[in-house]
Amino acid sequence: MRIDIISVLPELMESPFQTSILKRAVDKGIVEVHFHQLRDWSQGKHRQIDDMPYGGGAGMVMMVEPLDKCITQLKSQRDYDEVIYLTPDGQTLKQSIANHLSIQQNLIFLCGHYKGIDQRVRELHITKEISIGDYVLTGGELAACVLADSIIRLVPGVLNDEQSALSDSFQDNLLAPPIYTRPEEYKGLKVPAILLSGHTAKIEDWRHEQAVQITSDKRPDLLD
Ligand code: ADE
Repeated sequence: MRIDIISVLPELMESPFQTSILKRAVDKGIVEVHFHQLRDWSQGKHRQIDDMPYGGGAGMVMMVEPLDKCITQLKSQRDYDEVIYLTPDGQTLKQSIANHLSIQQNLIFLCGHYKGIDQRVRELHITKEISIGDYVLTGGELAACVLADSIIRLVPGVLNDEQSALSDSFQDNLLAPPIYTRPEEYKGLKVPAILLSGHTAKIEDWRHEQAVQITSDKRPDLLD
């Protein structure tokens, strides 16, 4: 998988890909992540990428030309499955979206800033708009990292068996059941006996019942 990330602040996104599981995915060559400084596509010595909105109003708008040039150049080099704009008015990120994106080959992420991007960029290039939640960040960079993390961990070969994504919360629309490790008792709190029984089938049933119960307590909307 290849992910191209377009941003005015690419340095903000470096460390997540240089640490832990994402770093291993990159080092193993399973995923390539390329950052593109949008200012490299702007004109003039000020490397301007934003301007005032037509019709007035607060905030600046990211200009169509640098974004169009950057995306057009990338598209001339390979076919992209999706060109994704990170924006609070996009569809809310869900596990099902991460699952779908994890089986794609080439993705572009566009990080917005200021008031957002000129509408014509959406019309020319954007195939998906994703929000990571109903709140506004200073820019799309942290959202791009969240989206990349949720996708990359699902790409075959990235997680080992012990970290398997199949038992994650949300993978079957259920939250995960409680988990325990040693010691068997701590400050009077005991590990449920069933987990020590060695009865694999009964343990699976117990975990499923717990998952249903916890989901109905904390997130009943997921069961609808
Ligand atoms: N940019 C600013 N806020 C955002 C959000 N909630 N999700 C995605 N991109 C954003």
